[in-house]
Amino acid sequence: MSDGRPSDGGVGLDFTTLARTRRSIRRYRPDPPSEDVLLQVLEAARWAPSAVNSQPWHFVVVRDASRRRALADKARLFRVFRWRHLATAPVVVAIVGDPRGNRWMTVDCALAGANLMLAAHSLGLGTCWIGGFDQDALRPVLGVPPEREIVGLVTLGYPAENPKPPPRIPLERLISWEVFDPSRAAGRLERVTCSCLYSVRKRILAMVRPRRGPGPVA
Ligand SMILES: Cc1cc2nc3c(=O)[nH]c(=O)nc-3n(C[C@H](O)[C@H](O)[C@H](O)COP(=O)(O)O)c2cc1C
Repeated sequence: MSDGRPSDGGVGLDFTTLARTRRSIRRYRPDPPSEDVLLQVLEAARWAPSAVNSQPWHFVVVRDASRRRALADKARLFRVFRWRHLATAPVVVAIVGDPRGNRWMTVDCALAGANLMLAAHSLGLGTCWIGGFDQDALRPVLGVPPEREIVGLVTLGYPAENPKPPPRIPLERLISWEVFDPSRAAGRLERVTCSCLYSVRKRILAMVRPRRGPGPVA
């Protein structure tokens, strides 16, 4: 594509381009990825680094449509925002961590999730990390016991959209050499601006696009 967005997902890209062109995908084709493809993606997650090699993750792969609908129904942010891509993506992977005696569990699970999302992109799949949910509302849907934690949900499937990249803070505002340099570091205003630009654009798109699936999207 002329603006640098790949039309074939991340297939065949060098690593930096792969990382740069991964997008959060919220519209999916209905055809599910094969189990072989799913296992490749999960294998990449398995090889993520973890503190003292504790590997505190477990992946609950949800393909059943009624369970995905239940996830979409229960996963809400501030009781208002819902994520309809939980129902419309053919697969949802819940990353479940074991926090017992492990203060780095969330970091480890997030690293596994990053591997998973990049591996998926490299195979032409789209993903979206979803963190806006209440643990206890989702536990019964996924059968997760109280001693484990649902760190994130990742929707997965072949993309039915090719979104423009949301704004990124320029690299020079993200790097200090040797010691932290407050004059170079992006501040709260730049971060909030990026978030606002992203949210406003999403709001406008949500208004002009026809709605599909259950409920509004945040
Ligand atoms: C910790 C975390 C939580 C997120 N939670 C949600 C969410 O609840 N719903 C959603 O649609 N996207 C969610 N996202 C996706 C972000 O909105 C997205 O990564 C960000 O806007 C940058 O866009 P990009 O992934 O296309 O680069 C989350 C991402 C992260 C890393």
